[in-house]
Amino acid sequence: MKKLVLLLFVLILVLSCNKEQVTDTPPMGWMTWNMFGGDINEQLIREMADAMVETGMKDAGYEYIIIDDLWQGERDENDVLQPDPTKFPGGMKALAGYVHSRGLKLGIYSDAAEYTCAGAIASYGYEKIDAQTFADWEMDYLKYDYCGAPEHRDSAIVRYKAMSDALKKTGRPMLFAICEWGPRTPWEWAANVGGNVWRTTWDIRDIWDHGQYDSGHNGIINCLDKNVNLWQYAKPRHWNDMDMLVVGLKGTGQASSASGANGCSDIEYQSQMSLWSLLNSPLIASCDIRNIDPRSLEILTNKEVIAINQDKLGNQAQRIIKESDKEVWAKELAGGDWAVGFLNRNDNEILEISLDFAKISINSSRNVRDLWKHEIVGKKLMEYSCEVKPHEVILVRIINR
Ligand code: GLA
Repeated sequence: MKKLVLLLFVLILVLSCNKEQVTDTPPMGWMTWNMFGGDINEQLIREMADAMVETGMKDAGYEYIIIDDLWQGERDENDVLQPDPTKFPGGMKALAGYVHSRGLKLGIYSDAAEYTCAGAIASYGYEKIDAQTFADWEMDYLKYDYCGAPEHRDSAIVRYKAMSDALKKTGRPMLFAICEWGPRTPWEWAANVGGNVWRTTWDIRDIWDHGQYDSGHNGIINCLDKNVNLWQYAKPRHWNDMDMLVVGLKGTGQASSASGANGCSDIEYQSQMSLWSLLNSPLIASCDIRNIDPRSLEILTNKEVIAINQDKLGNQAQRIIKESDKEVWAKELAGGDWAVGFLNRNDNEILEISLDFAKISINSSRNVRDLWKHEIVGKKLMEYSCEVKPHEVILVRIINR
């Protein structure tokens, strides 16, 4: 009898060790919404999974393919939500099987109300049954939106907790992505209701600056500004989410080009990658990666920059200098290196931006490596100065050796 109990214990241990876990570092992947809106189907998802492998994005760390809104069909006679049969005729489980066979994970989307933002059937009141359906389909990620749900933050907490509990009950690890955009300060409660990431901003648009923050749409710089004071909430498995990377969209996205957002320059796309990495935002690409241009691919797959995002310490960078259009953002990395971004917000002028290392409590000389040039740009320095182009972020690593 004792032997049997021991055997059972070992079996349970082995099984639970084999279970795929939600990673500690910010999620990396690709999401349908910005580029395709509701124009999605299973063939597209398969092709994106293939592209993620073939472009080298998977090797660089990207792993989730996330199906956003408008995949849904109707509930069946048992209230089980079905995918739209014309878009996903083979069903979600088979699709997840394909994505998993490419060494990737699959994510799905719902909303904490009766209908989603785009008007599809959502999960309020059906949390248990939908969570189980997503688990049965072998999903690995749920983006859970908040359109059509009550204004008040207490209701949001209750509704997000209901879905989070239901997901946990399935026993399948699924990353839980809270998407109420920031009005109910989710950074204060999202981790407590099982959120791994929480959107801090309205939807990103394919533009550097979208003007007024509360217009409901943001440019890159507007997302950044919203996150200045949120650094203390980021920690392993719990991240502020500044929304998708617009890198490579070039004004072609269905959703991301709404309201006059006609694309960014390569320097601006590169700056987004630097800033999202410094602030530990999820790295979720959104352009058509099957047809991505070489420069955008280089930006998305810069492993030295990705390492700043995926750093094990999990510090979110803080803005340590703000002098008019000059900003310096910095964070300490595991092992004592620092990542520092020099941002020029000016639209026209090149600016010289400097950091005295004493400002980040480094009092001995250090080497400095430029993570976009991939070279050491200064040896035994006590400070670093660089010429930064309009809308550029120069991203360096101050090396502790
Ligand atoms: C909201 C979200 C977006 C996207 C759409 C889908 O606007 O913020 O990221 O999921 O809904 O309808």
